[in-house]
Amino acid sequence: MLLIEELRVEVGGRTILNNVEMEIPRGETHILFGPNGSGKTSLMMTIMGFSGYNVTHGKIMFKGHDITHMPIHERARLGIGVSVQRPPTVHGLKTRNLVEVCAKTGGRTMDIEELAAEVNFVDFLDRDVNHKFSGGEIKRSELLQLMAQDPDLVLLDEPESGVDLENMVLIGETINLLLHRGVKYRKGKSHREAVAEQNKSALIITHTGHILDYITADRGQVLFNGHLCCSRNAREILKWIGEFGYEECVRCAMDLQIQAKMPPASI
Ligand SMILES: Nc1ncnc2c1ncn2[C@@H]1O[C@H](COP(=O)(O)OP(=O)(O)OP(=O)(O)O)[C@@H](O)[C@H]1O
Ligand SMILES: [Mg+2]
Repeated sequence: MLLIEELRVEVGGRTILNNVEMEIPRGETHILFGPNGSGKTSLMMTIMGFSGYNVTHGKIMFKGHDITHMPIHERARLGIGVSVQRPPTVHGLKTRNLVEVCAKTGGRTMDIEELAAEVNFVDFLDRDVNHKFSGGEIKRSELLQLMAQDPDLVLLDEPESGVDLENMVLIGETINLLLHRGVKYRKGKSHREAVAEQNKSALIITHTGHILDYITADRGQVLFNGHLCCSRNAREILKWIGEFGYEECVRCAMDLQIQAKMPPASI
C-alpha cells in the first residue's frame, strides 16, 4: 500500500527526516513511536503532501503510484486520509459541509446524520469546524471526516490525546470501523470474509499506547532524530520504551543492525 524509500525532508530550511525507509502492506496497521521533535508529524504531513515539507531525496509510492510530488488533493482522491495533531478552527464552514466534501472526495454519497450518529456527533454538525470544540470533540470530528472519506490509507496523529477514558472506547471502536476490523463491521460475515476485506492500512502515532488496547497493530516503528531505527512488535516496543526510555531503545536497535551486518561466527 505504502512504500517509502530513502526519504529526506527539509522543513524551514532544516533537514527533519533522513533516509527514512518504510513499508506498510495492504491491510496492516503500523504504530509510530518516537520522542517529541523526532519528526513523526513531519513524516505524516509529508506522506499526505502538506506544503512546507520539501522532499529533497527519495520517493513515496502509494498503491503503485509515485506520489512524491503529487498535490495534496490528488493524494486524497487516490485514497490517503489524515487526522492531524492540531486541527485548525475553520470559521464560516459548518462541520456538516466539511463532512460532505470528505464524502465527495471519497466518491461516496451517504446520510451524514446517520454517519455522525455512529460517533455520537450529530449535535455538532451545524457548528463551525472545531470552533470551541473540546480536545476530545476535535478528535471525534476528525474521525467523522475520515469515515466519510473512507480512505485506503489512514494516517492518525495522536488520536487519543485529550480524550477521556470513556470516549477512548468510542475512538477505538471508530478507528476499528475505519479499518474494517470492528465487531460491528464483521456482523453477519464469516471470519474469513471479514479478514479478506481487511484491505485498509494505517499509520498511527502514539505516545501513550492507549490505542493499542482497542486496535490490532501489526507492527511498531521507532523514529529517532528523523531516522526510523526499529521495526518490531508494537507492544514490545512500548514496553521497552516505558522501562528503559528511548535512548536504550535506540541503542538496542543499533546493536541489532550491527549484528545483522556481521558475518556469521565461524565454529
Ligand atoms: N515549519 C517548521 N519550521 C521549522 N522547524 C519545524 C517546522 N515544522 C517542524 N519543525 C521542527 O521539526 C522537528 C520535528 O517536528 P515534528 O512536529 O515532526 O515532531 P514530532 O515527532 O511530531 O513531535 P511531537 O511528539 O512533539 O508531536 C521539530 O524540531 C520541529 O520544531
Ligand atoms: Mg507530532
